Amino acid sequence: MRVAMIGTGYVGLVSGACFADFGHEVICVDKDKAKIAALERGEIPIFEPGLDTLVATNARDGRLKFTTELKPAVAAADAVFIAVGTPSRRGDGHADLSYVFDAAREIAAALEGFTVVITKSTVPVGTGDEVERIIAETRPDADCAVVSNPEFLREGAAIQDFKHPDRIVVGTGNVRAREVTNDLYRPLYLNRSPILFTERRTAELIKYAANAFLATKITFINEIADLAEKVGADVQEIARGIGLDNRIGSKFLHAGPGYGGSCFPKDTLALLKTGQDNEAPLRIIEAVVSVNDARKRAMARKVSVALNGEVRGKTVAVLGLTFKPNTDDMREAPSIPIITALQDMGAKVRAYDPEGMEQAKAYVSNVAFCKDAYDCAADASALVIVTEWEQFRALDFVRLKTVMERPVLVDLRNVYRPEEAARHGFAYEGVGRARKA
Ligand code: UDX
Repeated sequence: MRVAMIGTGYVGLVSGACFADFGHEVICVDKDKAKIAALERGEIPIFEPGLDTLVATNARDGRLKFTTELKPAVAAADAVFIAVGTPSRRGDGHADLSYVFDAAREIAAALEGFTVVITKSTVPVGTGDEVERIIAETRPDADCAVVSNPEFLREGAAIQDFKHPDRIVVGTGNVRAREVTNDLYRPLYLNRSPILFTERRTAELIKYAANAFLATKITFINEIADLAEKVGADVQEIARGIGLDNRIGSKFLHAGPGYGGSCFPKDTLALLKTGQDNEAPLRIIEAVVSVNDARKRAMARKVSVALNGEVRGKTVAVLGLTFKPNTDDMREAPSIPIITALQDMGAKVRAYDPEGMEQAKAYVSNVAFCKDAYDCAADASALVIVTEWEQFRALDFVRLKTVMERPVLVDLRNVYRPEEAARHGFAYEGVGRARKA
């Protein structure tokens, strides 16, 4: 199969490299000349474990190419993926589809022979219809089918998720398009990944419903965590206790500072807009969005409680800045509002993150960026774990205690057990675990 991947952002690059690894002939297209030149030199613009090797091997073997020329890439392709960005539109939270529609117009002009145009970008219900309309308008003679094939890749585990997906969703009523997508994903049958063929609008909504459900699960356990703190219960045990029920499932029940990242915040907002526009308001998602929003600043108040309200003039050390570990992505990271709230309370903030510090500089100011966890903890009156990077799971408490002004640990990811921190003489504040008197 010959594949053209339009957009070499996160999803496009991972998907392109994985399809090439399956043996398909892939050409990744991007308007950004500098990015394409860098990719041709083997430089990967994002941090994603395993992606550099995957790109290098497949480029070396000639299955993965990069170009800024959309026309020849599309003309030669059996399948063209649209994997361009769909950011939140400024002002109203709707998904901004201008990149998708621009790509559709350009693709239409370049189509030759039967081609399947597949939307991978997360797009609101009905976008496939619009892409189809744009293509028909630009090229009434084009022989093509427009398919929705949403991605469910987690940053930091994207290659694993691509190669071992829980399911593949393909939305199209066109028989030829089903055959082409079937061939594209054939290697995954070996991994026994189910492929769900459905109508296009259903596929589009599956993606939003999945993300909104996961965001709801996280927000639900976060609210239970707040209650657990008040009534003297332990949210970790509650999560285990409910998660063992197969109908609930144990994943995504980890209480923390609220969800962030490039998908959940944007997609929940876009889904709300779709609900409103179709007179089917989604009240549960409305609550999820506002509860999650309020939660981030509330986490800074935990630091204040741990410091008995004496935050002004104190140094607070923040460990972990990215929205989750194993990524350098700072988009909608809880660390951003948490740091701002701490600064509003008069704290001086020091921070350390294994991968995200360069990116973080665009999101926070007046922060001292440090070289490691211990450097970060120097003179701090509280150490706050915001993102659970592996290297924060075995901190040397003795060493921390010698460098800190006061041994206070605010563990927003419940990495440590309260007893463990107490044994080392640390005052401990976790999430959803009542403070033992
Ligand atoms: C998510 C979806 O998982 C993926 O299927 C979709 O395609 C894109 O969005 P990603 O944004 O990479 O992927 O991150 P994910 O691992 O899902 O975490 C999202 C956020 O939820 C993070 O901020 C994370 O810290 C938080 N989270 C996750 C929790 O607070 N608790 C949990 O139990 C799980």
